[in-house]
Amino acid sequence: MCGIVGYVGSREAAPVLMDGLTRLEYRGYDSVGVAVLDGRGVETRKLAGRVDGLRALLGRAPLAGRCGIGHTRWATHGAPTERNAHPHADCSGTVAVVHNGIIENADVLRKRLESAGHRFTTETDTETLAHLIEDAEGATLEERVLAALAPVEGTYGLAVIAEEHPGTIVVARRGSPVLIGVGEGEYVVASDASAVLPYTRSVAYLRDGDIAVVTAKGYRVLDEQQRVQRRSLHDIEWGLESLSLGDHAHFMLKEIREQPETLRSTLRGRLLPAEGSARLDGLNLTAARCTRIRRIEIVACGTSWHAGLVGRHIIEDLAGIPVTVEYASEYRYRRPLRVPGTLTVAISQSGETADTLEALRAAKAAGSTVVGIVNVVGSTIAREADGGIYLHAGPEIGVASTKAFTSQLAALLLLGLYLARQRGLPLERGRALVAALAGLPDLVERALAVEPEVCALAARFADARNALYLGRGVNFPVALEGALKLKEISYIHAEGYPAAEMKHGPIALIDENMPVVCVAPTDHVYRKVVSTMEEVRARGGRIIAVTTEGNGDLQRLVDHELRVPASEPLLSPVLTVIPLQLLAYHIAVLRECDVDRPRNLAKSVTVE
Ligand code: F6R
Repeated sequence: MCGIVGYVGSREAAPVLMDGLTRLEYRGYDSVGVAVLDGRGVETRKLAGRVDGLRALLGRAPLAGRCGIGHTRWATHGAPTERNAHPHADCSGTVAVVHNGIIENADVLRKRLESAGHRFTTETDTETLAHLIEDAEGATLEERVLAALAPVEGTYGLAVIAEEHPGTIVVARRGSPVLIGVGEGEYVVASDASAVLPYTRSVAYLRDGDIAVVTAKGYRVLDEQQRVQRRSLHDIEWGLESLSLGDHAHFMLKEIREQPETLRSTLRGRLLPAEGSARLDGLNLTAARCTRIRRIEIVACGTSWHAGLVGRHIIEDLAGIPVTVEYASEYRYRRPLRVPGTLTVAISQSGETADTLEALRAAKAAGSTVVGIVNVVGSTIAREADGGIYLHAGPEIGVASTKAFTSQLAALLLLGLYLARQRGLPLERGRALVAALAGLPDLVERALAVEPEVCALAARFADARNALYLGRGVNFPVALEGALKLKEISYIHAEGYPAAEMKHGPIALIDENMPVVCVAPTDHVYRKVVSTMEEVRARGGRIIAVTTEGNGDLQRLVDHELRVPASEPLLSPVLTVIPLQLLAYHIAVLRECDVDRPRNLAKSVTVE
């Protein structure tokens, strides 16, 4: 949600900033801007629209200078207009600020500043920061930023440059990620690692409350008490190829197709065939602690919440531990209950989702042990959890989550297996599950072979106005996920339901115009889902069934069958979701939607 980048070093700043903004554009894409210190002052270019538009503008009106900041926006305060685009300036235009997050007391601060004579030109909360810095006392830029931030409530990841402090960027973090890419005589600051990768693999992550001053000669980090701190350097583990499209038309398609490989990465080194268990050292849960767990609560948002719903089936089935799955945004505002023996699992691709992070903090405060299932290494949730499982799925650029979802399921299967083996799951069952998990990436490879059929189907349903997705048991969350994928990228209204719930209301919607996608692999509820299909058929609904290879008994009932390989039932969601991801993708392409940047959305929701 909003991308921030800054550069100081021996190169021209503008091309580095533009390169960074291109890579960060998936975080927000309604407006964009850069500001550069050119030796005389701060020069800014910005506009409503995309990075390509700004590139063209810079072609006509270039910026020179070796220190600058940039921003790609997802609007919160104020419409996505040129005026509201970052960077924002003070009254004199000598300070420029880019910001991710929300200044919660912006209205109060603005009134105070206006009555002191400041002239505001935008509707944004961020502009208050520029005026606060303008007024702040201090010999150095960091002193001024520190003083300016003192009355600020809310969240921020920000970067500041100022005419009086040439060659200096100050960054600060509270609730929104900021990292410093450390190169040879050059530094790239950014809200995520993708922006720094072409220049360095070595990054220092700021902690909440940190402020850092960065020049071409080095950087210094101060913590909340203004003590100088060393923040250790981490190596980015993935390469530039993860950030490029290769031969694929969109990142979403690339990420769907790379799932066999991303699943291999999630499973690599974690399967213990002889012990019939999983190696999860990062969890920091000893055997003794595992046996003391009395309940598990999973907190997450969106697609990660759907993964959590599958996780409930996995953990209850294998380990016999009661599991609840909560929307993080709801959990965080409920009365915290202290229940001894609670393990809280926060699931988040980005590791930065504000609601999930706050839910994790609330759970911790209530005495729970907290673990994270997270993709982005070094992210806030990963750092604040007591332990966790990294997905190792590589950067997910498509705004619609796909490969992270299947890796989350794999991580939950590993977690379920690990807990279960500590709590008496028989060795033979453990071994069988390890073998099934080891074979899963190959099955996903086979499931992807359904793409040509899905393409043909997409053409028939691209004009639909609504769609219903039904599933049962461990595949009910897959129905929810299929519906979410379709609505977020194609803008077709879609709903997911537990199959048997259809007759309690949604059945009224069924007619010959309503596509009904039924997720029905062969498992113990298969026959029940078939009964629901009969009910749909009887009312003229058009059925697309996602079922298991070798299953020949649906022809009479359904309009289309998409078959995935048979598997151990608990693993089946990893396979059944594949045709649904592809279906959403191809329908969206046919409707000429911007698949990787759907309207109103942004990757990584770091505001409440
Ligand atoms: C949907 C999607 C979102 C995210 C949600 C949580 O395709 O991507 O629903 O799943 O915003 O994000 P993370 O997993 O980063 O916490």
